[in-house]
Amino acid sequence: MGPGDLSAALAPLPRDTDARLLVGRETFDDAGVYALSEDLALVQTVDFFAPIVDDPYLFGQVAAANALSDVYAMGGEPMTAMSIVAFPTGKLPLHVLTEILRGGQDKVHEAGAVLVGGHSVVDDEVKFGLSVTGRVHPGRLLTNAGARVGDRLVLTKPIGTGVLATAAKRGDLDPALHREMVATMVALNAGASREAVALGGRCATDVTGFGLLGHASHVARASGVTLRLVATQVPLLGGARDAWVRGNRTGGAERNAAYLAPLVHWRNASVDEPLRALMIDPQTSGGLLVALPPSAAERYLRQVSGSVDVGEVLLPGAAAIVVD
Ligand code: CO
Ligand code: CO
Repeated sequence: MGPGDLSAALAPLPRDTDARLLVGRETFDDAGVYALSEDLALVQTVDFFAPIVDDPYLFGQVAAANALSDVYAMGGEPMTAMSIVAFPTGKLPLHVLTEILRGGQDKVHEAGAVLVGGHSVVDDEVKFGLSVTGRVHPGRLLTNAGARVGDRLVLTKPIGTGVLATAAKRGDLDPALHREMVATMVALNAGASREAVALGGRCATDVTGFGLLGHASHVARASGVTLRLVATQVPLLGGARDAWVRGNRTGGAERNAAYLAPLVHWRNASVDEPLRALMIDPQTSGGLLVALPPSAAERYLRQVSGSVDVGEVLLPGAAAIVVD
């Protein structure tokens, strides 16, 4: 669902106020965090969706990497995972499901976690994902509320998976570009998370369904700051701009656009429409957006391959996000 509809549906419900709930739903964080003791907290998250790539084994990997990412985005270490499956039994052969689950399990193992079970339903449309539980030291959390004025903003993966996946479904994507897109989606955010924690970072989110600017806006709101992003610095996947220009659109893009319209000040008129669209486009298994003080950010950029400085944290202004 879009962030606007989700907020509206949740608004009438009472907040959970248990003191052990360190991070609840109010800040749109990537996962909930529940303290077990002074030095140990649970990180819990769930994510599932319909296939974004045709190959069932790769789809399983992408969905699992995407779900595990929400634990990494909190600075946590995944421990256990449970599969969530919707499958059209009788219409698709069961070996397809086996390959989806194999992809998921392989990714869970790569993350150093254990698959402990799951739940399945019969449905016309295949869906797969994980519920993941991790652990974190309560003093070393990466949250949406941790950005500080003067921090640099670093993005660890290029964007563009939404329009590229749409192009692929329409048979409108070069196989080499498709492989590149899949490679970024199956890559775990483990190293990017560990390095942010090691450098004393306090703030990260992962870039998924609400798009780069949607997730950035949640950081801005939770931290009480404005984020400045430099559009030309944002790394794009090969072919993403062209795929958008050819008319490939991601489901949910318009919802993101409507939600972000009042939150984003496009200060630089020379940022063209394709780039604006890609910055709000829904992503799958995107990178981390990390806020770090300048000296830590410099080290982070050297340590985390593929990471790029995309902006900075400013005093709160009229807009949640300023794009230059
Ligand atoms: Co997330
Ligand atoms: Co999520």
